[in-house]
Amino acid sequence: MEKLYITGGKPLSGVIETGGMKNAADPIFFATFLVGDVCTIENVPDADDIRNACEILTSLGAVIAYKGDNKYQIDTRYVKQANISNELASKLRSSYYLLGAGLGRFGEVETGFPGGCDFGARPIDQHVKGFRALGAAVTEDMNACRIRCKAENGLNGSSIYLDVPSVGATINIMLAACKANGTTVIENAAREPHIVDVASFLNSCGADINGAGTPTIKINGVSELYGSKYAVIPDMIEAGTYLIAAAATKGEVKVNNVIPKHMESLTAKLEEMGVNVEEGDDYITIHAPAPDAPPMHSVRVKTAFYPGFPTDMHPQIAVLLCLANGESKLTESVWANRFQYVPELMRMGAKLNVSGSDLFVTGVPELKPANVRAVDLRAGAAMVIAALSANGTTVVDDIHHILRGYEHIVEKLNAVGADIKLVKLPDTMG
Ligand code: EPU
Repeated sequence: MEKLYITGGKPLSGVIETGGMKNAADPIFFATFLVGDVCTIENVPDADDIRNACEILTSLGAVIAYKGDNKYQIDTRYVKQANISNELASKLRSSYYLLGAGLGRFGEVETGFPGGCDFGARPIDQHVKGFRALGAAVTEDMNACRIRCKAENGLNGSSIYLDVPSVGATINIMLAACKANGTTVIENAAREPHIVDVASFLNSCGADINGAGTPTIKINGVSELYGSKYAVIPDMIEAGTYLIAAAATKGEVKVNNVIPKHMESLTAKLEEMGVNVEEGDDYITIHAPAPDAPPMHSVRVKTAFYPGFPTDMHPQIAVLLCLANGESKLTESVWANRFQYVPELMRMGAKLNVSGSDLFVTGVPELKPANVRAVDLRAGAAMVIAALSANGTTVVDDIHHILRGYEHIVEKLNAVGADIKLVKLPDTMG
């Protein structure tokens, strides 16, 4: 069991390098399964979800070599089938990308239900709809928690309208369609930067995908894919988490290796709150407020699909709203059950009230240290930010959620003046 002991109340100061995006690197790793050749993937974050993806691919016969400097060589030439255990599938959400990749490679795949953060129901009906439209038979066995897809007569291009612009469904259908006969069109596709990144990787391997980043993606099936060398984009959620940590501690932090365009919805909201934000070509700096500056302003935030305000920045911005003057409102429109962190933050003195999909926040002058849990990945990051802002020592439990998605978070924050200790305790100590 691991916990974080965070002694906060000090402004952060310095430079943080953003790593590669987890939610792009994971599907790219599974996309190498489809490619069936030797790929070199660079700028891969050193996070547990990547290790989980490697474990799954290795179990299927892929040969993965870490080449240092966040670079992996993945050889999937000799994999024979795409069937993984429930235990492996449940290790991460992205295990469901084996469905699209396995169908595309072998016309047949079987996995357990995917894992990941618990936000209540996380349906995959749009993935299934896409696979069926391409000609696969899909069976979901709710008792055995297994999903089987089989395309007896191969996959044929089709037109698929997504009821919601799902990131996972868009990527999964792209994967399955790359080698299908004919052309597939995905309408109402997700537009997140990681969709573009996965499509760019696949195109670098010989796929023919157009329109990624727009609501209409067209995939012309090709007969062969080949290995390539590809660098994952920077993680806008990791970068955004550190920008908010800087603002919450009234610090001065430059976050390097970012694509500012990906972060416009966040930087605009920070500016609206009165945070001093400077944008460069590949960095964003949060400047410390002047000693006589007024507190941050309360604002309204509504999460939305890209290019809207990302749901994966919801718990982190909630912490900042707690420290702003007056009443703020945060509306969640992607995940119904994203508010599980609220009792944890209230333990730190936050004044919060949830009503349906709205969170009403009454600003407080400061948060207080407490013992809290990381209920999921981004909620865990929010607890870290809250703890950094609070005078005294906060203990954050269940940090495995945080370590799944944040590369070297303790080291990166300590390098800019945080005081965080990761303590390993024997499980018996509770
Ligand atoms: N949805 C459906 N049917 C589907 C798929 C999705 O109704 O078949 C709904 C979901 O219930 C949700 C919305 O569509 O309301 C969006 O879901 P999406 O499929 O886009 O989410 P996901 O692919 O399961 C990814 C990220 C999440 C992130 C969401 C939204 C990965 C591994 N996960 O999940 O990231 O919140 O997109 O941007 O890429 C995180 O990194 O902390 C995280 C949870």
